[in-house]
Amino acid sequence: MPPKASKPSTEPVADIIGRTTTASINIRVTDLKAVGRNEFLTLLHEGEEYLLLVKEIWREHHETKGTCTVVGSMPRTPFNPDVSVYKASPSIVGEALGIDIPRDEAVYAGLLSGYDEIQVLLPIKKLGRLFIVGKTGSGKSYSAAVIMEEFLERGIPIVVLDRHGEYSSLKIPAEKGSKRFDVKPKSYEENVIEFADLSANPGADLPIEAVLGTKPKDLVVSGQGTILNFRGLDLSVQEALSTEILHSLYKAATNREIPPFYCFVDEAHLLAPNRGKAATTKMMRLLAQEGRKFAANLVVITQKPQLLDTHVRSQVGTWIVHQLTDVRDVDITTQSTEGLSREWDDDIQHLDVGQAVIAGDAVKVPLIVDIRIRETTHGAIGFNPLDFAAPQAAEELERRRSRLRKSFADRMKTAVKRFEELHASIEGGTGRVPKRIAALSEELKAAELKLRELREENKVLKKELSKVKKQKDKAIKLAEEALARLKRRR
Ligand SMILES: Nc1ncnc2c1ncn2[C@@H]1O[C@H](COP(=O)(O)OP(=O)(O)O)[C@@H](O)[C@H]1O
Ligand SMILES: [Mg+2]
Repeated sequence: MPPKASKPSTEPVADIIGRTTTASINIRVTDLKAVGRNEFLTLLHEGEEYLLLVKEIWREHHETKGTCTVVGSMPRTPFNPDVSVYKASPSIVGEALGIDIPRDEAVYAGLLSGYDEIQVLLPIKKLGRLFIVGKTGSGKSYSAAVIMEEFLERGIPIVVLDRHGEYSSLKIPAEKGSKRFDVKPKSYEENVIEFADLSANPGADLPIEAVLGTKPKDLVVSGQGTILNFRGLDLSVQEALSTEILHSLYKAATNREIPPFYCFVDEAHLLAPNRGKAATTKMMRLLAQEGRKFAANLVVITQKPQLLDTHVRSQVGTWIVHQLTDVRDVDITTQSTEGLSREWDDDIQHLDVGQAVIAGDAVKVPLIVDIRIRETTHGAIGFNPLDFAAPQAAEELERRRSRLRKSFADRMKTAVKRFEELHASIEGGTGRVPKRIAALSEELKAAELKLRELREENKVLKKELSKVKKQKDKAIKLAEEALARLKRRR
């Protein structure tokens, strides 16, 4: 149903020109400052108010013209070309877009771009699988962390396969909040348990081995965020661990042993690549295809959609698309995303950092969103603020860590043994990555040796050059003197 007709209180901003359909109109802008690309307009037709999105806008001689498409429900008959077009009020936009739902049933993603009054609230019920894509530095990890905060806030369990140790900063409140986004600094320290290689990540709670001895029902707990920080581990070890964990979570979910949860996988194209095979591919596919039935939802994060396994990316869900510049990545994203078409290509290529097009299951139409700022600190790759914790904070952390260790102590021995077995199986069998690293180190050593030799040679050549130069100068001087003498004699 279109929103109820209300008499627009403002002045018209455009007239309708040319042909109209039930889905689109062309406009001639009368208030130049009021109408821009991707903004919302409204008009009355047969007693109902309809919402329109300005999809294209251009100048022709001294006039500004544009094309608008209907958002939400369409009328039965083509629009009457004689009516005026108004700027849409925030309440009409929010209602028509279906994003003005109660906050405790939603993920608050940010503000509708150009409309600071409109919070984009995505209904959790409709989210499904999530795909977060965008080129490096476009804001993927940041957006992923915003969604993690929202889930933790609402008590929804999350498991994070964290390749770079970026998400342990969920424990640290941001330095400041934001009035614009209505966000206050907050820490989720009480909610987060972080497993990691403690030698590389001294701020983590438990050794990574312990995850193998931890039952799914202790990893997936209402209100808990479980971070598996893989920083410092070989990719092959990460793959093996991820396979084990995804498998045990999937099994527990199908047996209904754990509550509905979200599993975040960053750099998913490495764990489920389109070409070649990773040990994890099968589990990622299974979770992507079947997990939703058992409320085991995947959040797939990647900077290279074209490198992601076709089966994983072809699943329906909600897409958060940050800036992409590679045309193939843009193509694949618009093809894979319900509601996105080629006319969004240009928008996707020109998004700012922290801006995203949200499309798919959770929204009626694609929306350009300024993603909200974080409540917690954004950890850069390989930086864990807790590694540099102040003495008092470190003491508190140690107490918490030992409390947790005690509770896992009885399972620790078997976990360590299984971790060692897993390591041994990789090194003995499919140790692709260690072998490749060894080969690369050999190459590096050889290159360094060559560089040293060339530097030595360079030194010798420089010396010879300066000797020759001196001899040349001396010869010239002698020749000049001889010439002068000859002239004088004449
Ligand atoms: N929504 C946002 N609000 C403010 N700053 C952001 C936002 N998203 C990203 N940034 C900034 O951009 C940087 C890169 O974002 P990040 O999410 O780490 O990129 P990537 O896409 O490579 O994961 C961050 O360190 C942060 O400073
Ligand atoms: Mg990132």
